[in-house]
Amino acid sequence: MENINFDEIKTKNPKKIAVIGTGYVGLPSAAVFAKWGNNVTAVDVDIAKVEMINSGKMPIYEENVEEFIQEALANKNFIATTDYALAVKDADVVFIAVGTPSTEIGTADMKYIDEAAFSIGQNLSEGKYTVVVTKSTVPVGTNKRVTAGVLKGANGRAVNFDVASNPEFLREGYAVYDSYNGERVVIGSDSEKALDVLSQIFEHLDTVIFRTDVSSSELIKYAANTFLTTKITFINEIANLCERVGADVKSVAEGIGLDARIGKRFLNPTEIGFGGPCFPKDVNALYQLGLENNYEFQILGSVINVNKQQMFRFIERVTQRFGSNLENITLGVLGTAFKDNTDDARHSGAIDVIRQLRGFGAQLKVYDPMALATAKQMLGEQNIEYVDSYENVFDKTDAVIILTEWKQFKDYDYENLVKNMNNPVIFDARYMLDPNKAKQSGIEYYSRGRKVL
Ligand code: UDX
Repeated sequence: MENINFDEIKTKNPKKIAVIGTGYVGLPSAAVFAKWGNNVTAVDVDIAKVEMINSGKMPIYEENVEEFIQEALANKNFIATTDYALAVKDADVVFIAVGTPSTEIGTADMKYIDEAAFSIGQNLSEGKYTVVVTKSTVPVGTNKRVTAGVLKGANGRAVNFDVASNPEFLREGYAVYDSYNGERVVIGSDSEKALDVLSQIFEHLDTVIFRTDVSSSELIKYAANTFLTTKITFINEIANLCERVGADVKSVAEGIGLDARIGKRFLNPTEIGFGGPCFPKDVNALYQLGLENNYEFQILGSVINVNKQQMFRFIERVTQRFGSNLENITLGVLGTAFKDNTDDARHSGAIDVIRQLRGFGAQLKVYDPMALATAKQMLGEQNIEYVDSYENVFDKTDAVIILTEWKQFKDYDYENLVKNMNNPVIFDARYMLDPNKAKQSGIEYYSRGRKVL
């Protein structure tokens, strides 16, 4: 990743911007809008979060966000508040970045979007033109729902607004980097005027601003994310096949990735499937959206099923080695986050694996560079010791399992670390180690679809 000189990249058209929601999308977006030189107000219903942000501390970890917010607080072009009126009154643009959690049947739960739209409507200034933009990942047609919500909140006042969609493609852990360096910004609206205002927010970036209608924009987000889940699932299935035919999945991934039509990225296999707050939710939501429109999106049905099975295949590997009664077995775990560089463990495959192994009676020693606190909240203390150094994970354990792709996990001195274990067994669900080196180091190494020469 290249270095960015953040101080040099500024907007030519500063705007008054409101951002509703201060989670993993809203807060980095607000920080970046402020850093570009806009006047930004972030709204959250959670007073504790708002106070924390205004004191310069962040409720989530995301690189550069804290320093951007601290600088903007000092420059007085950023404030967080619980008060919609302060944020929305006279705003040029309001971004809705609230959560859309999954309902029980897998559709997107729209209650926070509805509440936001209603409150925006209540507080828009009469006459002042405002663009209300949905940034959250929402089903196609949500713009109509937002329009209705805003009008309901306005309750007959002469508000002047258009709705638009600006899906985010920010990866957690790299949200600021991606905001500066994205390959495209997608803006969708059925109003040219709204598209003109929105494009002014991004036009100083060296990127493509892709203008489209609002429904296409809404679908682009789902299509992009679910395409990526399909790509990951494809390589996971190739790994399953490699295991049977004696080929090496990393070589196959490299060999196909060199074809620009396929591309190298998002071809890293994982034995425990993809996770996180976006991919599992989005793939379910798009599958459900198909069903609601009398269309069975068969590829996505398979992606959902294969991804569920991956985790059980992995557990089976451990129980095949140690038997299904793990009561006298202590397992060391490297990684609880759903991926590297984040403190987020929501819908993390690692958390599911730990739960399953605990269910078989195993004792676990768990380490993560950043997501240990979140893991503790989700898993509690039963059968689990949370350790603050990776060396500890190897100390008198019967096997170590690698569940998150933290880059530093590649660099550990495994040859020496395994000497402290009861057995030198490593299950590498994230393909971090070189299998040949592992073999030379006397490690009993498990990783699906790797070829040891
Ligand atoms: C994703 C999209 O990448 C981003 O564009 C979108 O806006 C939000 O959702 P994020 O969930 O932060 O971002 O993480 P991402 O890096 O995409 O990883 C998601 C999951 O897929 C993780 O569990 C990760 O470990 C897994 N993954 C990713 C793989 O298993 N293999 C890969 O090659 C890439």
